Amino acid sequence: MTDMKPFVWSAANETLAQHHISKYPEGRQQSAVMPLLDMAQRQNGGHLTIEIMEYIAAYLGMAPIKVQEVATFYSMYNHKPVGKHHVQVCGTTPCWLRGSDDIMAACKSKLGIGLGETTADGQFTLSEVECAGACVNAPAVAINDDYFEDLTPESMTKLLDDLASGKPVTPGPQNGRQTSAPEGGATTLKDFIGKEEGA
Ligand code: FES
Repeated sequence: MTDMKPFVWSAANETLAQHHISKYPEGRQQSAVMPLLDMAQRQNGGHLTIEIMEYIAAYLGMAPIKVQEVATFYSMYNHKPVGKHHVQVCGTTPCWLRGSDDIMAACKSKLGIGLGETTADGQFTLSEVECAGACVNAPAVAINDDYFEDLTPESMTKLLDDLASGKPVTPGPQNGRQTSAPEGGATTLKDFIGKEEGA
């Protein structure tokens, strides 16, 4: 027997859930299943349970299996506890061609864990995900809600070191690239850019 309380929305999430549902036409409240799963996961500290998925199914008037189908399809939903920093290494072709195997090896080496595992101190969980939609700055790694891009094994290791010691980290390209601009600066419209900058 456990004394775990059944899941119910916090007051803030109840309001937010109704807000998401209100975006869809009457009778189409099931369309809000994804944001509601995300909210529930955050409220529960980072992962979903069968009970939570059943709660959302009842809340939206859906068959529980339909909620589970969504929740198990997308890697953004976790089905077991994850660490404070959920390191999700993209291993799809563009990232792989740009060295994701080495990024993954650097993570395993630094953290001392394998795929799907969490460090003993509960700080890091390591996962591999499919395309994170940041191929232009491959290789990319998502850590919680932030993307870190243009990584090398060295910058990946430093990033993990900084997170472990609580230092501030800067999401986005880790090689100095401006957003998704060409590496090394502009390659076209140089005259125009020069005039814009007053050069
Ligand atoms: S392949 Fe890695 S972000 Fe698209």
